[in-house]
Amino acid sequence: MGNRVYNFSAGPATLPKPVLKKAQQDLVDIFGSGMGVVEISHRGKEFDRITYETEAACREVADIPDDYAVFWMQGGATSQCYFVPANFLPPDRTADYFQTGKWANDSIKEVPLYGTCHICASSKDAGYNHIPTGDDVKYSSNPVYVHFTSNNTIMGTEFKTEPQNIPAGSFLVCDASSNIFSKPIDVTRYGLIYAGAQKNLGPAGVTLLIARKDLIAEPVRELPTMMQFCKHAEKEGRFNTPPTFGVYLMGEVLKWILAEGGLEAMRQRNEEKANIVYSFLDSQDFYIPHALPDSRSMMNITFKCPTPELDQLFVENATRQGLRELKGHRSVGGMRASMYNACPIEAAHALVAFMKEFAHEHAGATTAG
Ligand SMILES: Cc1ncc(COP(=O)(O)O)c(C=O)c1O
Repeated sequence: MGNRVYNFSAGPATLPKPVLKKAQQDLVDIFGSGMGVVEISHRGKEFDRITYETEAACREVADIPDDYAVFWMQGGATSQCYFVPANFLPPDRTADYFQTGKWANDSIKEVPLYGTCHICASSKDAGYNHIPTGDDVKYSSNPVYVHFTSNNTIMGTEFKTEPQNIPAGSFLVCDASSNIFSKPIDVTRYGLIYAGAQKNLGPAGVTLLIARKDLIAEPVRELPTMMQFCKHAEKEGRFNTPPTFGVYLMGEVLKWILAEGGLEAMRQRNEEKANIVYSFLDSQDFYIPHALPDSRSMMNITFKCPTPELDQLFVENATRQGLRELKGHRSVGGMRASMYNACPIEAAHALVAFMKEFAHEHAGATTAG
């Protein structure tokens, strides 16, 4: 593990090194059972222990009360785009959605299959460069729930707080895939939180759900069993064969978060990394940041060079220097530096050093061109 690079991938992404090292051993023999973690039965006592430990670590990390279920599903965060309205939204009711980028749009697209979608706020006209707040948010009169994407992985924008003053009787649903457990969270403000694991929680293939038990007790319509939140919650994420390695590794990552000092420690570390890059961006005029300052993400930092040709060169040169996966999403262009919980502070310093050097070399060329 000596030649690891600085990996700025948006997900799957950098995971904590101690966790990967432990996984190396557990792949061969978990709990002294003589079986590797991907070889054990999901109904056996070893996996009982993994299920118990993963849930317990999750509850401890986010101080999750007993009236919330903690479980996991497959199908990625994308499947939640339809699981959510299918379970919660009757045909004659409305759900409110914040339209803040591609992942929000993926959710919005599925709602009309089940009920009415009201876009309560949108930053589409501004290229999704900010999070709408205050008077820009107009809820419908009686939504079942209000859905938001707490961090917009592609755009590099992040809600600083949960949406405020949602209509009485409604509940918050959050796609927290790209900033879950990056800072403290008050779970009791939410009806449902879901997050694909592959950024802050573990490998791809498992989606964490934290849900108020009364809300998921029964779906609002007849649904195939596999689509019912209650069935997965009742069986502790083992309704069918779960992604066993994903659940195991998520548990190890959650234990790592606890060992590092919990969510407050994650917040401090993430703020520090993000400040290193944003304060450099604010101090210069070569790179053009995408997100407006009050909406900036701590997890994904998006910026461009003055020309697309320089963007390409930036990514190529950075890659040669061991700064990997900096290419921005095709819908935004430019660069994206993703710095999730496990990304070390040295990565932020190395990125800024490279950005300075690159800007110094190419600033003249740009003005000429
Ligand atoms: C915020 C957000 N939501 C949803 C998704 C989709 O996740 P998946 O590919 O696991 O379905 C992503 C993927 O990057 C994401 O960043």
